[in-house]
Amino acid sequence: SHIPVITIDGPTASGKGTVAARVADRLGYHLLDSGALYRLTALSAMRAGVALDDEQGVAQLAQVLPASFSNGDIFLAGEEVGALIRAEEVGNNASKIAAFPSVRQALYALQLGFRKAPGLVADGRDMGTVIFPNARLKVFLTASVEARAERRYKQLIGKGFSANMDDLLADLQARDDRDTHRTVAPLVPAEGAYILDTSDMSVDEAVEQVLHWHTLL
Ligand code: C5P
Repeated sequence: SHIPVITIDGPTASGKGTVAARVADRLGYHLLDSGALYRLTALSAMRAGVALDDEQGVAQLAQVLPASFSNGDIFLAGEEVGALIRAEEVGNNASKIAAFPSVRQALYALQLGFRKAPGLVADGRDMGTVIFPNARLKVFLTASVEARAERRYKQLIGKGFSANMDDLLADLQARDDRDTHRTVAPLVPAEGAYILDTSDMSVDEAVEQVLHWHTLL
C-alpha cells in the first residue's frame, strides 16, 4: 500500500504511546495502539473465565474481538474500558497471552485495517518488524528501566493509585524479559529503525525528533 505508516516500537512505559498519539495528532494521521488490542484480549479472557494459558481459547476470543476506538476512547463490546485496561494486572496478562502465535495471528488482519488515508502512526512491539515491515519511518523508542519505572510511578500516583518503586522495577524487568525473549515477534528494533533513547528527553523533544525524521523522508 502507498499509505504512509510510521511505526513506533519499544518497551513498556517508554512513552511510545504518548509520543505516537502526539505525532499522529500533528500529522492528522490515524493511530493504532496495538498494545490495547492485547490488553482487550486479556480483559475478554479474564471476564469470560478463559484461562490465560489456554492458547486456543484466548485465540478464539481474539478472532472476534469486539474492539472499537473513537477519539481516544477504547470500547469492548460497546463499553468504555480505556482506564480499566491500563491496570497493571491487565498489562501483565496481556504480555502473557501476547506470547501465543495463534493470538498474534488472530489480531493480524485487524491491525492491517488501521492503515487508512492520509496515514497511520502505529505503536507497539512488532509494528516495524512484523505488521508494517514496509513502513515509511520506523522508530525504536526506549529509555532506561529506571527512567521508565519512575514515569510509571508518577503516572500511577497522579491517577490516585498506590505504587511501589521496587515492585514497578521488578514488573517492568519481567515484562521486558518476556517481550524480548519470546520466540514470536520478540521486541527488537526493526531493520532500518531510528533508535530514540528518551531517558533524558521530554515528550516534546521526542515528538519533535520523530517529526523531524519524518520530514527527511
Ligand atoms: O504497549 P502495552 O504495554 O499496552 O502492551 C501490553 C502488552 O501487549 C505488552 O507487554 C506486550 O507483551 C504486548 N504487545 C505485543 N505486541 C504489540 C503490542 C503489545 O506483544 N504490538
